[in-house]
This record gives sequence, structure tokens and C-alpha cells, in this order.
Amino acid sequence: MRISEKLGARLQELGVELRPSVPLSEKTSLGIGGSTDQLLLRKFETIPEVMHLLADENIPHRFLGGGTNVLIADGELPYVVLHLPTSQPGMRVEGSAAYVDAAADLGGMVTFCAKRDLGGMEGLIGVPGSVGGALRMNAGAYGTQIGSYVREVELYRASTGKLETLRGDDIRFDYRHTSFAPDDVMLRVKLELPSRPFKEILAAIKVCNEKRRASQPLNQKSAGCIFKNPPGGSAGRMIDELGLKSHRVGDAMVSDRHANFFVNVANATCADMLRLIDEVRERVRVTYGIELENEVIFWKN
Ligand code: EPU
Repeated sequence: MRISEKLGARLQELGVELRPSVPLSEKTSLGIGGSTDQLLLRKFETIPEVMHLLADENIPHRFLGGGTNVLIADGELPYVVLHLPTSQPGMRVEGSAAYVDAAADLGGMVTFCAKRDLGGMEGLIGVPGSVGGALRMNAGAYGTQIGSYVREVELYRASTGKLETLRGDDIRFDYRHTSFAPDDVMLRVKLELPSRPFKEILAAIKVCNEKRRASQPLNQKSAGCIFKNPPGGSAGRMIDELGLKSHRVGDAMVSDRHANFFVNVANATCADMLRLIDEVRERVRVTYGIELENEVIFWKN
């Protein structure tokens, strides 16, 4: 999808930086994704106006955060991609509250708070991605999920066209799922965190890091777990039991380390990855009678 010169000029007046024809394979942890124009926003306040301009010209758009849990189609994409202001996203602590911009790195936020003796989020340390993506998905690991600490979220609501603030109590955070609308855009969050000495938090972080290093393919291109765990079960264990570790379609492969991580070993396409996902889902369905649900978000054209 391409932005016209006229619209580009108007967006630039709003401080938006336009990057034409960017391969999104460079913006995702899977290293997969076609090309489109990229719009880098400078200020939250301009979002409603930018959205109006895109709507007036019927330009479809999607917001991309850290790109760590998304599978994007190949080729020329029929939408433009927007990014929140990312240069030095704001983070500050006041008492037991942390105020963090959605574009901040999730791990960066955990350590920032830890240094100020605020803990609770140790389990999230190795989860890659942005704070906004983590909020939307209610990211979690090792018994911690971000939703437990959310007190307020500032967001852009496409349904009203306005910037709004939601109270944490009014948001539902379930397993890798939230009550946010699909086109809500996370902007900032206020978290309420338990006080804990930095040294203790650091020790807990180290334990999580070690567990993760021992069980996950951290140095390969992946989007974390591909499937959600079914209630009471483990997708990774079932796929492993089926002997599917290292099973490949093109350059898309079931990790030989953790069977719910599918990795791009060189130049996998989205089509390769989708076929691999379908094949594995089908094998699990036939053997276990369980229909695995994607955890990774697929951006269909
Ligand atoms: N297992 C196997 N073979 C494998 C992988 C796992 O037998 O190839 C077994 C393990 O030995 C263990 C059980 O399955 O007994 C569960 O495995 P693990 O502890 O690695 O956790 P998981 O349920 O596979 C979940 C989250 C991860 C998160 C870890 C740690 C989901 C889908 N996955 O994985 O989150 O890092 O727990 O808390 O909820 C993600 O969300 O992308 C993700 C990776």
C-alpha cells in the first residue's frame, strides 16, 4: 500500500515521518513479512488527526509494536503500518506506581522498575516485545501476567476517534486475551507494583532467565509460542510427543528445543509458516482430539 504525495505532505505537517516500501520482515522477530509504507508518529496527540486523514482517503492501516508475536503475509501489503513514538519512550516511578509508554521495551520496563525496588514482574523479563503489545495480549510467563498490575491504560479508541483512559478494573485480562477492541491502540499504562529490594528482584530475574535459556530457542528467529496452551494441557509437550521437533516446511521449522516455538531457519515465507502451523494443528487434532488455537497473531491481507 502506498501513501500519495499529497497525503504524505499533510502527514509530515503533523510530524509523521513517512518511510516508503519498508520490508516488514526487518521489523518482526520471525523475519517474515511483506512490504508497505511505514508511518512513524511523533506525538500521541496527533493520532486522532492522522486517523481521520487515513480514513478520508480510505487507506487501511495497522499499528505494529515490537513485532514479536505477529506473522505477516508475504508480498506487497494492502495496508500501511503505523508506529508509536519510539525515541526514548517515557518511564517514571512515583511511590509504588510506574507510568510507562506503550512503545517502551517490556524487559526494559521490568529492569527500570526493579532498580527502583518495584517487583512482581520478574517472570516477564525474557518476554520480547513492547509494553503495548504485552498489554494487548496480557503477556505472561512463569506465573506472572502483566494484567495483574494494570491500574490505568491510556489508549486511542477507533470506535470514538478519541484518546481515552480506562481504569484497570474495567479491563478484562484473561490468558493471552484482553477485553480491548482489536483496533484500540495502547498508548500509556499506569502499573501498581509491590515493593521488593532490587537484589531480590535480580535473583528472581536470573532464575527466570536460566529457565528460559534452558528450554527456549532464544538465538533463533521466532514469535515465541505459536499456539496457546489448551486448558490443563501443554501444546509444546503434545507436539514433542508426536515427534515433530525439527519438522520443516521450507525454511519454517518446529524448534528442536521447544516444540511450541516455530523458527525461521533462513528465508522462510509466511506461506511456509502457515503450512507448518496447519500441518502441526492437524496432527494434534487427529491424535489428541484438541484443536489448538493460535497464540501468534496472523495479519491476513
Ligand atoms: N515440554 C515438552 N517438550 C517441549 C516443550 C515443553 O515436553 O518441546 C513440556 C515441558 O517439559 C513442561 C511442559 O511441556 O513439562 C510445559 O513447558 P514449558 O514450561 O516450556 O511451558 P509452556 O507451557 O510450553 C508457557 C508459555 C510460554 C512461557 C512459558 C514459561 C504459552 C503458550 N506458553 O510455555 O510463553 O514462556 O510457559 O512460563 O502460554 C509465549 O507466550 O509466546 C510463550 C513462549
